[in-house]
Amino acid sequence: MTTLTAPFDLQKVREDFPLLTTPFHGKPLHYLDSAVSGQMPKPVVERMAHYAQFEHTNVHRGVSTLSQEATDRYEEAREKVRRFLNAGSLKEIIWTRGTTESLNLVAQAWGRVNVLGGDEILLSAMEHHANIVPWQLLAQEKGATIKVLPITDQGEILLDAIEELVTERTKVLGLTHVSNVLGTVNPVKDIIARAKAKNPNLVAVIDGAQAVPHLRPDVQDLGADFYAFSGHKLSGPTGIGALYGKQALLEAMPPWHGGGNMILSVAWEKTTFIGLPGKFEAGTPPIAAAIGLGAALDYMEALGWEKVQAYEHALLEYATERLSALPGLRIIGTAPGKASVISFVLEGVHPHDAGSILDHEGIVVRAGHHCAQPLMKRMNVPATTRASFAYFNTTDDVDALVDAVKKTLEIFHG
Ligand code: ALA
Repeated sequence: MTTLTAPFDLQKVREDFPLLTTPFHGKPLHYLDSAVSGQMPKPVVERMAHYAQFEHTNVHRGVSTLSQEATDRYEEAREKVRRFLNAGSLKEIIWTRGTTESLNLVAQAWGRVNVLGGDEILLSAMEHHANIVPWQLLAQEKGATIKVLPITDQGEILLDAIEELVTERTKVLGLTHVSNVLGTVNPVKDIIARAKAKNPNLVAVIDGAQAVPHLRPDVQDLGADFYAFSGHKLSGPTGIGALYGKQALLEAMPPWHGGGNMILSVAWEKTTFIGLPGKFEAGTPPIAAAIGLGAALDYMEALGWEKVQAYEHALLEYATERLSALPGLRIIGTAPGKASVISFVLEGVHPHDAGSILDHEGIVVRAGHHCAQPLMKRMNVPATTRASFAYFNTTDDVDALVDAVKKTLEIFHG
């Protein structure tokens, strides 16, 4: 049995997650599904509970001290997101319900104005449905064409295809930073630079949902025009996410949702809107969730992003080595420098059956198409079983996964 020494106090960290010591089907629980949703540590839950009990009201409304203080806490969380992404201005950070809403906002508010019939939208072959379907809806409405940036069998983007596929009609490059299935960390900066060298007018829309649990994106360094992510992937709550957009692009965009909180004045004849970021934030927002996301960013920062990355990388290497040694197991996604995600198929076993057996062994993984059906088709698999590792996991979790996979193979092959 191998143990890895974490560069932080792993025991103390694990105490922040009571679920990890709660038996599941009468067995110890091994949570290997952080790519579906990260677990929230106690300080995040406690911060939201404190808000709910002692600080709650509405934001950006009224002159009450309580409302002003809630607004301050809510806006402080926005500043934490700005710092996290290294955005140049708070005006560039829009609160949304999550990555999906962020991407739909871009497709609808930017795309409906800027994408015309005959234009092209270039998406990588490893996109999640959230960065495919909004563009398909737009393309159908406008008569635009979707083109696909191909990937290798290992799960890496074929960089040489960029120059070939980007044309003067390309309006959008939609790209995931980290693949939720393959774990590939795409060279986003390089891809954007190559695409823009061919057509400087396209906008690069980056899906950061699976990147943010593992790394700190620098939107300015990447050259992203838009960058979307969800709070629940990085130890925060569900129902909150953010969209980064370059200020000039956001300013030129019409509002998307209309309602209270986003207007300057409303009259029957004409309504005018406030500036950024409020122009895109109609209605009462998920205030507690935004503050919770801010607390999650504080938690990750205190742990140290480099330390989280180093430890997750060591876990990934250990798990890859152990799983690869199992006859009948094939890992889908073998790019170098992956994030801590391992998708695999077992010979003669449907991933749903594998997922069910693992579940009964106390191993929580995801089995299915992972909202990436075109990618499943490209990799010639109907589905995969996926284990994803977070900073609170241990080699004990990996060993339990390996034992349960062995058991699954024995059940099917004797
Ligand atoms: N996008 C999430 C996943 O990959 C739900 O599981």
